[in-house]
Amino acid sequence: MEAAHIHLVRIGEFAWSRMEPHEGDWQWDWLDHAIALAAKHHMKVLLGTPSAAPPAWLTQKYPETLRVSNAGVRDEHGNRQQFSFISARYRALTHDLAERMAVRYGHNPNVVGWQIDNELAEPSFDPEAHKAFHAWLQHKYGTIENLNQKWWTSYWSQTYSDFGQIPVHDAEENPALLLNWKQFVTDTWVSYVRNQTTPIRQYALPSQFITTNTMGWFDGFDGYTLHQSLDLVGWDDYETDWTDNAARHDLARGYKNKNFWVTETDPGFVNWRPNNLAHDKGEVRALAWQAVGHGADAVEYWQWRAALNGQEQYHGVIAGADGNPAPIYAEIQTLGAEFEKAAPALQGTSPHAQVALLHDMPSRWAISFQKQVEDFNPVKALTAFYGPLRHRAGTVDVVSPRQNLASYKLIVAPGLNVLPQETAEHLLAWVRQGGHLLLGPRSGMKDAENALDPHLQPGPLAPFLGAHVSQFYGLVQPVALSLAQTQGKGTLWAETLEPTDPATQTEGTYGPSNGWLDGQPVAVSHQVGKGKITYLSTIPDAATLDAYITTQVRDAGALSPLADLPADIEACLRTGKDHTVLVLINHARTPVTFTLPQTTAGKDLLDPKQAASGQITLPGYGVRVLTLPNPA
Ligand code: GAL
Repeated sequence: MEAAHIHLVRIGEFAWSRMEPHEGDWQWDWLDHAIALAAKHHMKVLLGTPSAAPPAWLTQKYPETLRVSNAGVRDEHGNRQQFSFISARYRALTHDLAERMAVRYGHNPNVVGWQIDNELAEPSFDPEAHKAFHAWLQHKYGTIENLNQKWWTSYWSQTYSDFGQIPVHDAEENPALLLNWKQFVTDTWVSYVRNQTTPIRQYALPSQFITTNTMGWFDGFDGYTLHQSLDLVGWDDYETDWTDNAARHDLARGYKNKNFWVTETDPGFVNWRPNNLAHDKGEVRALAWQAVGHGADAVEYWQWRAALNGQEQYHGVIAGADGNPAPIYAEIQTLGAEFEKAAPALQGTSPHAQVALLHDMPSRWAISFQKQVEDFNPVKALTAFYGPLRHRAGTVDVVSPRQNLASYKLIVAPGLNVLPQETAEHLLAWVRQGGHLLLGPRSGMKDAENALDPHLQPGPLAPFLGAHVSQFYGLVQPVALSLAQTQGKGTLWAETLEPTDPATQTEGTYGPSNGWLDGQPVAVSHQVGKGKITYLSTIPDAATLDAYITTQVRDAGALSPLADLPADIEACLRTGKDHTVLVLINHARTPVTFTLPQTTAGKDLLDPKQAASGQITLPGYGVRVLTLPNPA
């Protein structure tokens, strides 16, 4: 590890049965030894609380700590994540465990931080969860009459006379119930995490940060809410499409609007997909630099060495079953040396965006509950817009609509389905000051209760758009359209837009399809104060969307000087007080030549002998890291 320039190890996250082999029999010597050994070899430790894998004695003695599925089946020992996130018994046991760990390691200078649990995921539908959900609803709505009214429960005779009658499920229910369940699950994960952070914060040095490792677009809970009580965002990166991966990094950065860590990524391949193909030679390094380019301040590989048995024998490793370097070791060693070289220049730098993509969990949930078209995937809708936005505007923030928006010139909201009055007002205040808001299809349809907004889409923003959606149409066959001087197709979804104000401008036209859409505008826009709102009623094909987004970015004055780089070249900028770091990555297998604009000429950080301006050729998966003066 030391020879590969590794400076951090993450340990402990599944080690409960080693820490406490029998109830009350605490064994810390091995962990003391591991941490001391890491220190001896100049490695810091990220210490995991092992609550994702309770020992067998525990679940045998306290079966009520095992999670129950939506179908009512209790989990068993043998895998992991078999615990109930709400069980009072489990919380008492994990509180005690976290406290013991904090007392023991909270002042260890070699422990830099804590990871709570591992990939929080599945809720439990056990009797304690039922009770807690009902209490949560009672607290939120006050009276059952209020809930009945907000949920429109007279439909299908769902009317309740008692909170205890409300079903506890995550599918096939009233959309209001489903949305509330997700919000309850989020709050329950928040308290689950806090149950461990409280003793850690009590006993540990304030310099030890607390994180948990999240999973990209995973939609089990609201990551914006969860991260409020954590210090650092960590995410596990197993994505293979580089553009989607870029978006996931930006999602992680957006949770707290600051740099983050990649807590796991594979050193080559995983074992849990139907086909576990290896990254090409050189790609692992390129992807690690991509993470850094997007604001990662650490990249951790899962896993170091193959466990000889257990469920993950086939997973990619840095050291093989024999303990010797696997072929990927050399690539990671090169990367480690490069990170060491670049670290001083990267210190204190982070990406800064002029454009944002809005990512809203209630909206994603609401669409996923009622997709209407099988292939409509709210994340794919987001990434369809992300790709061209990233290419043309450079850095993109992926953020919640509720955060401070002042620094953006253009905000794109592809599927802001749930749009409560408060959020609409927040967006409007920003638009009035000169912001350009581009809403995508399915926006502004629902209120905070996941009920249809009788103002029609985009709900509270309709009067400001000077138009509303009169009807939506799910699509399986794309429809012809012309938009941004391009003849293209609208996919998955299309809406008819009806202007209500003569000042509303229409853009593009649908070609002949179902009769309803024929000749109708594809998009409309309207001035609001110093800014404007645009509504785009479909997801155009990639080329048309790129043309359209390019015009939007240009109009907003947010075009990047690197907007014309070839499609396989990614440029990432991290800016600090005195300088900027530019990471250039070729995501293709073959060499690509391009010209760097004069404004981004700099010095090569990894190999100062190389020219860092003018024409550049990057080999397949090649990376260049430049330092530039900050723009004047
Ligand atoms: C992650 C998990 C790790 C390991 C890895 C394999 O989801 O946190 O423990 O299982 O996947 O790719």
